[in-house]
Amino acid sequence: MSTDQNKFQAIISHCKEYGFVFQSSEIYDGLSAVYDYGQYGAELKKNIKDYWWKSMTQLHENIVGIDAAIFMHPTTWKASGHVDNFSDPMIDNRDSNKRYRVDHLIEGHAETLPEAAGNALLAQMDELLKENDFAGLKSLIEENKIKCSVSGTVNWTEVRQFNLMFSTQLGSVTEEASEIFLRPETAQGIFVNFLNVQKTGRMKVPFGIAQIGKAFRNEIVARQFIFRMREFEQMEMQFFVRPGTQQEWYEKWKEERMQWHLSLGTDPAKYHFKDHIKLAHYADAAVDIEYEFPFGFKEVEGIHSRTDFDLKQHQEYSKKKIQYFDTEINQNYVPYVIETSIGLDRMFLLTICNAYEEQDLSTPEKQDSRVVLKLPAKLAPVKLAVFPLTKKDGLPEIARELMDGCKPYFHCFYEEKDAIGRRYRRQDAIGTPFCVTIDHQTKEDGTVTIRHRDSMEQERVPLSEVRNIVLNKIM
Ligand code: GAP
Repeated sequence: MSTDQNKFQAIISHCKEYGFVFQSSEIYDGLSAVYDYGQYGAELKKNIKDYWWKSMTQLHENIVGIDAAIFMHPTTWKASGHVDNFSDPMIDNRDSNKRYRVDHLIEGHAETLPEAAGNALLAQMDELLKENDFAGLKSLIEENKIKCSVSGTVNWTEVRQFNLMFSTQLGSVTEEASEIFLRPETAQGIFVNFLNVQKTGRMKVPFGIAQIGKAFRNEIVARQFIFRMREFEQMEMQFFVRPGTQQEWYEKWKEERMQWHLSLGTDPAKYHFKDHIKLAHYADAAVDIEYEFPFGFKEVEGIHSRTDFDLKQHQEYSKKKIQYFDTEINQNYVPYVIETSIGLDRMFLLTICNAYEEQDLSTPEKQDSRVVLKLPAKLAPVKLAVFPLTKKDGLPEIARELMDGCKPYFHCFYEEKDAIGRRYRRQDAIGTPFCVTIDHQTKEDGTVTIRHRDSMEQERVPLSEVRNIVLNKIM
């Protein structure tokens, strides 16, 4: 059984052992802060994506989804402010040459202090970050004798800004090559398409545009497994509103997004809101939804009131008018924007952390335990496992028929090897909510045993009912 301290380590190992997440290019010793999703991870990730996409687009008549390219015209990033502002204050240790994000370095130190002292240090840091006071941040690090974890010294350089965007060349060297960026957020693909979507979809403000896609950031300190990656996926929605109504919509989206998280059955005590102290260059209000990971409360999603900053900037840089004519008030304006932005990989990590449980099932007669992923049934990679009790007597044929009847509706898994108990344990470990066993009684009365993952209870149900039982839980 793992303790609280090593639970996170156990989760990481579990993700690898059961085909959820692998280190990228592992056979070459891996690539730092880049990960691949395995056979069950890819399914779980897709299910999270689908759940978000459906709740945003299908369930909101005034939100449509798009899929913009990762590569965008370089001027996009000048206009959005990312070329000039998308940077973090960094500091290097002169002895080890290791570079740190200043806030991460100080946060790491604060965690080692008693709670009150740690909080006081973080409050000082927040104040200095808000003022962009780099000299003050360096003094804070020195005064607190914060050491480099590699060299163990306090021999620090000045604090400098470091841009997080990756760049590459478009076109071959023989052609005229130009530098372009890998997008650091998906949002700009929505902003530059605002008029395309508004006009072709005949959308009326207030309305939203949603998108899921890859984003790239050259994170200097990439830690905590898939929590902070260099290549990751975002699920973002920009909601365009009439100027002056942004506060009201900001509150509405804060509430709605929290309800989305809670709709997956997570304990509400595991979530809280955290207001931003230092606002991004485009925002007039911003809040994070934080979840209590095994390593503490951390951001999963941001809700930002982005004003009319982005559309106005694209209007100015492209020299194309980006306005909306509001027939209700007979006015042209540049809409204001409320953004909801959630990291898909972070939501994946949250889902696994929230589901992972080690249970001691020992009785006086027998030692026993299991690891179970109590995933919401609609997100589980496999919904139903089908087991013939033996490989003979016509049981596999009945099991195969059940598989064929269910496969078109949801993901099923067939297995006839090993004792039933061991087969159950393997499904518990990947979070399969239902296992069905076909036995000799099935041949007599057409019933099967259905076993429920969380309670481990088993009941006899008609074979013909299995598909509907599962469908009722996953819709
Ligand atoms: N368009 C706004 C935006 O990108 P953000 O707070 O920088 O805002 C939004 O990112 C979300 O993207 C975060 O709440 C987080 O879930 C996810 N995210 C950001 N950086 C990430 C990284 N390096 N690795 C994984 N997820 C990340």
